[in-house]
Amino acid sequence: MDYKKYISEKIKVEGVSSEEIYESIALPPNLEMGDYALPCFKFAKVLRKSPVMIAESLKATIATDEVISEVSAVNGYLNFKINKNGFVRATLDKILSQKDAFGSSNEGEGKTVCIDYSSINIAKPFHIGHLSTTVLGGALYRIFNFLGYKAVGINHLGDYGTQFGKLISAYKRWGDKDTIEKGGIRALNELYVRFHKEAEEHPEYEDEARAYFKKIEQGDKECLALFHWFKDLTLKDVQKIYEMLDIRFDSYAGESFYSDKMQPVVDELKEKGLLTESRGAQVVDLEAYGMTPCIILKSDGSSLYATRDMAAATYRKNTYDFYKCLYVVAYQQNLHFKQFFKVLELMGKDWAKDLVHVAYGMVSLEEGTMSTRKGNVVFLEDVINKCIEKAYTILNEKNPDLENKEDVAKKVGVGAVIFGALYNSKIKDIVFSYDKVLNFDGETSVYVQYTCARANSVLQKGGVPDSYEIPALTSEEIELVKAISVFPETVRSAAEKYEPSYIARFAVDVAQKFNKFYFDCKILAAEDEKTKNFRLALTNATMQALKNAFALLGIGIPDKM
Ligand code: ARG
Repeated sequence: MDYKKYISEKIKVEGVSSEEIYESIALPPNLEMGDYALPCFKFAKVLRKSPVMIAESLKATIATDEVISEVSAVNGYLNFKINKNGFVRATLDKILSQKDAFGSSNEGEGKTVCIDYSSINIAKPFHIGHLSTTVLGGALYRIFNFLGYKAVGINHLGDYGTQFGKLISAYKRWGDKDTIEKGGIRALNELYVRFHKEAEEHPEYEDEARAYFKKIEQGDKECLALFHWFKDLTLKDVQKIYEMLDIRFDSYAGESFYSDKMQPVVDELKEKGLLTESRGAQVVDLEAYGMTPCIILKSDGSSLYATRDMAAATYRKNTYDFYKCLYVVAYQQNLHFKQFFKVLELMGKDWAKDLVHVAYGMVSLEEGTMSTRKGNVVFLEDVINKCIEKAYTILNEKNPDLENKEDVAKKVGVGAVIFGALYNSKIKDIVFSYDKVLNFDGETSVYVQYTCARANSVLQKGGVPDSYEIPALTSEEIELVKAISVFPETVRSAAEKYEPSYIARFAVDVAQKFNKFYFDCKILAAEDEKTKNFRLALTNATMQALKNAFALLGIGIPDKM
């Protein structure tokens, strides 16, 4: 229930809209004063009365009812107390009956949201820089589905360009089937690196590479077969990581998929008079919009990243008829997205407004925690494995008798990596620190997981009650219920702002409030049966809310820790 809304509808101020009143209602600094407050200062001018008098006269017009238990006027504030018992019951009943669906809705029914995320480059390392797009996109995918949208996860593979010609040239010269089969991406990357080194002395290799790429494009059997082999190997390699992170895609249509879909875009641009020539290249001038030109065709007639993205956006609109199409890509590509969104708009595509660049900040590793020598890429797989190992060591120290230690360490380690990338507002640059993400007392996933294990153990001992009554409530209980009650609106705003961090923060807030409740209110040793039952029900509801939040982030919760 939206109490703010309920209250705002009871208040009538001449010349002030109910929306404005709704926006003005705030949470008072302390609970003694009330649960909600309306400051009357800004109405003084319209009503030509003092805020104190306004508050007094408004108070006289509002009757208490089953929701509002008390109204008071203090120093120009109109304060409201909510009937806590009703609120607590409504919240717990909702969670305990909806269970895994608590927080979900069908507001997105009939709407499709395309999410372009992870979008790795074939034969290139899957490094720490891909962490954010992968877990942010994965979380948004689950969040939109949870709200009733149909999410379409797209891995827009970087599988087009001369680098594949280079790889073929390198493979033919120095490669060996077995080594590549065994080594996967790392072996392919080594070939690629070697090509660049040796091509410095043998510029003719570059020409050879271009020729091989041309052959791929022309459908040469051998070259195509090699290209597909590289692609399969890469996808097989990253699949391990996707599984660990619980990441799924509905489509792997990458850049090469659009090879034969760009001509119509180019033709249309030409037809609409948008193309101009600039030093032999075909470009769309964007000076009027404060941007450099968007290059569509190079002087040799070959396409660019933007050309393929325009073909892809068009294809997605035709195929999925999306309501929104999100691109979860680092802010370094801001200009690229602004440019091709603008070009589509200039072409008269009204759906260009539904394309959204969900930009995020950089992730780097804390100095000294891993070899970050210049040019030495840090593989995401290594980061995840190291986090799992460290988690294992910590768990082993804390609880040597823990069952399924490996399984728990996996949930904790993987969770730490995901949560580390999702906890802060997405646009912030992150310095990844193993100690920080694995801090049991920090704002971390392991803190939340540990809290769940604590709650779980209470429930194992006390049992889950079938029904409960509401005793005299403590402030810790009320604070905890308030914290879990906002989950549905938190999910909604996470979707609206493309910010899974809201859900991560919700989980930490709930865990903190639960721990306060756990230490200050005895659960199993409560003063009477009624209180104990209620506290068990509250513990159960808390677990459910945390479970739902973590499911959206893709993080598992161990039973015991
Ligand atoms: N493969 C690109 C890169 O690693 C990201 C692709 C993002 N998606 C897109 N439609 N441009 O930079």
